[in-house]
Order: sequence, then C-alpha cells, then structure tokens
Amino acid sequence: MQKKEIKYRLQKLRQEIRKHRSNYHIQDISSISGGVLDSLMHQLSQLEAEYPELITPDSPTQRVGGEVLPEFEKVAHTIPMMSLNDVFDEAELQQWEDRNRGIVDKAKTLQYFVELKLDGLAVSIKYANYQLTQGLTRGNGQEGENITHNIKTIQDIPIKLNSKEQIVDKLKNYDINLANRFESLWQSDCEIRGEAYIRYSQLDLINQNLRAQGQAEYANVRNLAAGSLRQLDSSITASRGLSFFAWGLITDLGQTTQQEEYWILEALGFPVVRENKLVDNIKQAQEYYQHILNLRERIDFAYDGVVVKVNDKNMQNQLGFTGKGPRFMIAYKFPAEEVTTQVIDIISQVGRTGKVTPVAIMKPVNVYGVTVTRATLHNQDEIERLELLIGDTVIIRRAGDVIPEIVKVLPELRIGSEEKYQYPSICPECGTALIQAKEQVNQYCPNTRCPARHIEYLSYAVSKEGFNIEGLSKKILLKLQEADLIQHIDDIFKLSLDDIKITAGFGEKSAQNLFNSIQNSKNITFRRFIQALGIPMVGNQTALQLSRHFQSLDEFLTTNLEQLQAIPDIGEKVASSIMDYIYNTNNLHIIKELLKSGISIDYPIAKKGIWADKTICITGTFEQFTRDELKAKIEAEGGIVVSQVSSQTDILLVGAKAGSKLEKAKKFGIKIITEREL
Ligand code: IVH
Repeated sequence: MQKKEIKYRLQKLRQEIRKHRSNYHIQDISSISGGVLDSLMHQLSQLEAEYPELITPDSPTQRVGGEVLPEFEKVAHTIPMMSLNDVFDEAELQQWEDRNRGIVDKAKTLQYFVELKLDGLAVSIKYANYQLTQGLTRGNGQEGENITHNIKTIQDIPIKLNSKEQIVDKLKNYDINLANRFESLWQSDCEIRGEAYIRYSQLDLINQNLRAQGQAEYANVRNLAAGSLRQLDSSITASRGLSFFAWGLITDLGQTTQQEEYWILEALGFPVVRENKLVDNIKQAQEYYQHILNLRERIDFAYDGVVVKVNDKNMQNQLGFTGKGPRFMIAYKFPAEEVTTQVIDIISQVGRTGKVTPVAIMKPVNVYGVTVTRATLHNQDEIERLELLIGDTVIIRRAGDVIPEIVKVLPELRIGSEEKYQYPSICPECGTALIQAKEQVNQYCPNTRCPARHIEYLSYAVSKEGFNIEGLSKKILLKLQEADLIQHIDDIFKLSLDDIKITAGFGEKSAQNLFNSIQNSKNITFRRFIQALGIPMVGNQTALQLSRHFQSLDEFLTTNLEQLQAIPDIGEKVASSIMDYIYNTNNLHIIKELLKSGISIDYPIAKKGIWADKTICITGTFEQFTRDELKAKIEAEGGIVVSQVSSQTDILLVGAKAGSKLEKAKKFGIKIITEREL
C-alpha cells in the first residue's frame, strides 16, 4: 500500500471504530461483537505502530470509549472508573507477570485472586448510614449517569447493608484479624462497584414473551442489560429482572488483600461470584482460565474471560496504574469467535466430488485460538450475497471446531482499490471446461481424472472419518500419486515399505511407522467404510444410518431407490446419488480390490438401546452435557441424530435458547424432551 492509501485506511478504521464504540457504549445496540471491535482496534494499532507519524491525537487508540448520555444527570466519580488492559494467551499473561516482577520486590511471591470477567455493565453504588443513596453507570470513566432509581429495583442489590455486628460475625468465620480491622475502621458510608447483568434464562423468558406478542427479540444479554439499566421509567427496569455481582470495594474497610475485599463484599450483603478464588502463582491462574473456559456452556450468565488480580494490596499500590487502567490487574480474554481481517485474494479450489469452491485468502489472523488464512466462500451466490471484493475488510467467524467463514463485509472501510473477483470458466487444476447444472449454484469440474479431485478424495478417505491412517498427509499422498504408485484408494493398501521409504523421502523409522499405520487401518467399521467411499452427499450421519440399515456390504450394494428412500432422513437427492455410485462398475471394482487387499469390515452388533431407530434432533444449549456428549449418548443407545426437524423426526431434545426448531417440532406434533428427561 502507498502512504496515501495507508492514511486513507487509517482514517476509515478510526471512523468505523468510533461508530461501533458509540453504538456499544452509548446507544445500547451492538452493531458488531466485542471481539470484532477488539480486532479492528488491533488492526488500527498495528498500522499505527508501523507508521507512528500518522497517529492523530483523537485516534481511538489514544482514548477510552464511552460517553455520557444527555437524558441523565451527570455525576463525577469519586475515583475514575477505569478499564482493564487485555491479554489473550499464556505467553502474554506471563509477560504481564514478568513486567510486574520488575516493579515489585522480586523476592516476594505473587499470589493472585482470580475472577470471572462478567459481561454486563459496571456500576458504582454508594451507601450512607447503611442506606443506598446513589447508583451511577461508568459513563466516560470520569463522570457517570445517575441511575439511582433503577439501581434500587435490582433485587440482588441491598437497599440497606447488613448491620455492623452481622458483618463482623461473618468476617470472623473467614479471618479474625480481618474482622478486628474491619471493626475499628468501619464507617457506614462506603462505595462498592460491580456488574449489573441479565441471566440467559431471563433473556429467554423476556424473548418468549416478545415472540408471543410478535415483537422483535433482544439479540443478547448485554444489549438487554444495557437497555434496561438506562430507562427513565424505573418500572421498566424492574420488569426486566436484572441481576448483580460485586467485584470492587472502593472504601478502605480494612481489606489488605483482594481475597479479603471479596469476603467483605459478601459480608456487607452483596452477591459475589462463587467461582472466584485465590491461587498461588501464575501457572494456577492459567489453569483456572482453562477451567473457567470449559465451564462456559454451563453457567447462566455471560462472562468473556477472567480477571487476574494481584492479591496483596501493598503490591497493588506499588504497581500503580498505566494510562488505561491498573497494572495490578489484567483481563485475560477468551479467544474471540469473530474477528476482522483483509481478503488478499480469491482462488478456486477443486474438491473431491469435482465441486469448485471459491476460497478467500486472508491476512493471517487469530480466531478462537487458531491462526486462519483461508475461508471457504461456498459458491458464486455466496460471494454475491456478501458483495465481497478482493481487498475488502471482513468479519470472520470460527466457533469451536467449525470451519472459518466470512460473516460480513465492512464496505465502509473500502478505499477504492478493491477489485471484483473473476469467476473461472475452466478447472484451475486440469483446464477442463467447468459445468454448472441448471438451477444449481455450484460449478463442477467434470473430469473424473482431474488430479485435484482425486487427491482431495484420497485425503478424505484416509482421514479420521474414513480409514483413519495416521501420518498419511495430503503432501505424502501427492508424492505417491506423482510417483504413479497410487491411483485409487485400494492402491494405498498395496504399498510396500520400500515404496514409502523412497517416494516420501522417509527414514527407516518414519517409513515403518507409516507402513504400520496403514496395516493397522485395515479393520474398519461399516459406517466409516461407507464414508470412506466418498459417495457425494453421504456424510457422517447418512453413513451411520446406512450402516445400521444394511446387514452387510453386499446388501448395501444391491439396494434400490425405494429401499433407500424409506430410511429416515434420506431424501430423493441423496438416494439417487447413492444409486449413481452403486451403478458405476469402476466403483464396484475398487471396492472389490479393497477387500482383496485385506480390508475387513466390522459390522455393528445389532444392539437395541432405548433410542433404537429413533431419529432425534438436538437444539438449544444444555447445562449438564455438551452437544457432542449428548449426541454420543443417543447414538450409543441406538438413536440417530439429525440436524433438521422434519415430519420424520421422532424426538426433539431441547435446551435453553431453543428457537425455530422448537416451533417446527410443535407444528409437526413431535415429542419434545429436556436434558433431564433424557
Ligand atoms: S475490576 C479498573 N473485576 O471489566 C477496572 N472488572 O475492563 C477494574 N468487569 O468496567 C475492574 N468483571 O465492568 C473487575 N471481576 C471483575 C470484572 C470486571 C467484569 C468489567 C467491569 C470493568 C471492565 C474493565
């Protein structure tokens, strides 16, 4: 990019960040997720670091977000409500500790109080003579909005603090010295800070009502919490059922550690997060982070990371503050599911069935803990739907193990040099003219000998889904193919140790390893065998159903269209695709050769579990088990898990936040069960 272009891009980035920040902090609407905003900021600060001469004083990197709304009375905070600096991985967390070690007495051990980083709204609450007198939002950090009338409606927040005797008694249970210190310092005027939030179950309730009235639903708990807190009419706030957790005590009531602060907050009468705790070192803080990340699906409120706080208050004072926030605390954020990056190019990739898929090549970016450089664009329609140009800044998403995809283009960030993608008319691998069936969005390479098609198929057949041959990567497959040693899947099982050693350029040991893992993969379940055949439209679930329905491979290979369509969830298209495969003598030849080379198929023992032959669809989020665990349980009991509700579905398993599938199931009169009933 030329300097002029960079300047323009910086300008665009700043504009965009300002707009979304204002939406997030002020208007209570989030146009984009927190992770996306973080990553736009990251792009901006990276570019500014490269070109420091282009930093402007009003750049969002130079100031904190948030402003005060005009409708509410503005009140100055006793001490500013600052932000936290972020880290995103173990190495950054360690760097934070190392920097701190350079400031505090090196010999001292650093203990940490670790807490959930709640995703609600920070509020400050003041008490005078035990009574709640004032509640403020964070506002711009210096001044907040006076929302006392709304704060008073939150059931979790005491209108009157516990009596001194009650507090002292409670503290004695934790630490007698703390109780004594508290007793001598106690003053009934104090300020505490914490997070107002909405529980997921509460969002569900409210959305259910809105749905029943045909009104628009709230997108997430944070929006609802923000909107509810900033109401001029407090009866509306009251009706929303906000909750509260305390995380900070501003007044000195004798706390010398963060742990003691937590005990006092609880003794005063505030709810505190049960999972918060003291750990002995940074390694344990890391373990806590992992544990809390795994808990996420099972907790009824939102949190987006953990806060690691130096436990000792003296050390906290020694460490002090940076411009943005304290040095003695850090927000250790969970990996973002959505981030932004730039599309550098679009290429076409030929898949194992010949389908041509446009793929976006992107500037490397870390999303949900993994560096991503490619995202599938599915087909032409998708590029048009997204209105994607090469050079665009995009939001990409990757949740859990899901393949990354482009969710949205940010056209406001265009600087004019972006280009339209030219669709190919010939296969980029073998040059054959591509075909596009009528009313089909996908383009295909019709050449069954296309090398790209073939290698994709082989790599799929040996993957975990199929023969599960460990160590046989696409790279090695390519080398074996180039050496003319393999053409079809059966050839893999005929390879000699020498073949492998010479072509893959392997040493004795690695060649032997790969050879062994090929031999060890000769036993295969019927389900994975069917999957490994690579029949178009037959995925994991269809393979499971076929393997259950047919007693043997022979029976499967001599089936007909009607029989296939009688199997749950197999429609006309899938059935004809299977028939096309079976009618092809080439395919039958390969299967014969596979069996000749020593492949042996394990057939499932006809086990009749409690869900035998029932098709079950899963929707919503669950408390006890993850979706994968539930799926495994159902399958172990003979059930078949399907992704969509249809009139053929027997049972819908519903969790919290169930949406359209629940409606559909009700419409079809399908039996509905909950996690507990399962
Ligand atoms: S301590 C200097 N503890 O995170 C601010 N904050 O980025 C010290 N937050 O505005 C805050 N959970 O709304 C603290 N356990 C926790 C928190 C927490 C959520 C929020 C809070 C604050 C923001 C700072």
